[in-house]
Amino acid sequence: MAAELIKGMEIAQKKRNEIKERVNVLKSQGVTPGLAVILVGNNPASRSYVTGKGKASEEAGIYFELIEMPETITQEQLLQEIDRINEDARIHGLLVQLPLPKHIHEEAVIERISPEKDVDGFHPINIGRMMIGQDTFLPCTPHGIIELVKEKNIEISGKHVVVIGRSNIVGKPVGQLFLNEHATVTYCHSRTPNVKELAKQADILVVAIGKAKFVTADYVKEGAVVIDVGVNRLETGKLCGDVDFDEVEQVAGYITPVPKGVGPMTITMLLHNTVLSAERTVA
Ligand code: GUN
Repeated sequence: MAAELIKGMEIAQKKRNEIKERVNVLKSQGVTPGLAVILVGNNPASRSYVTGKGKASEEAGIYFELIEMPETITQEQLLQEIDRINEDARIHGLLVQLPLPKHIHEEAVIERISPEKDVDGFHPINIGRMMIGQDTFLPCTPHGIIELVKEKNIEISGKHVVVIGRSNIVGKPVGQLFLNEHATVTYCHSRTPNVKELAKQADILVVAIGKAKFVTADYVKEGAVVIDVGVNRLETGKLCGDVDFDEVEQVAGYITPVPKGVGPMTITMLLHNTVLSAERTVA
């Protein structure tokens, strides 16, 4: 039997409606949540992501400020701009779109963002808080994945979660969030010799490696939950995930599509973090 589709787009829309209601409550208390995004250079993919963030913010009633800086900017100029926004009371959330030009040290930039405005959840302080299970800004894609699984009423506690990929943005934190939910977590990466064998043991399999159709049906246990974080463009121009959808949906119990699976949840959780940050100012 074909797997049940986890419709990220629908779940994201439902959550965005709830976020909009929280924005309205804040506005009635005299606070408009504000999000600032710094975009350095002219990377078309980054520009497209930032445009999506701006559009979603405005639809939710969030004040959105885009700060564009040229590719040639110095690190010091960028840090000064972050300092300015850290002090701006209209802005509750600040993110610097990654990747940055090579001459700019990404870690120094992330660490300059006030942890209280770090709605990406990338600041080491927030990563540390997440690790010890404190209430904090959670990184958006990992948090979105947990929300998708919870929306489908899928049990996490006691389940075996296998994460393929160990990036700082997705792989590592998503494993941590599943651990916080009492799952047993296994990480696989490029040096793992027996990825297929481990993946096949997963009750919940998360794939975030950026390789089109890497996970085929023989990686998946019958009835498993398969979360595909990959966004790859095929030569035909079509988008596809890290999972071979047509094969795997015949084996899995649940599966996220690409597009309209995990993707829409990332921006939704960014809006959530921005509103959360604004709510903290009135609490
Ligand atoms: N580049 C790709 N994904 C992200 C993200 O979630 N946040 C930021 N700041 N940059 C990114």
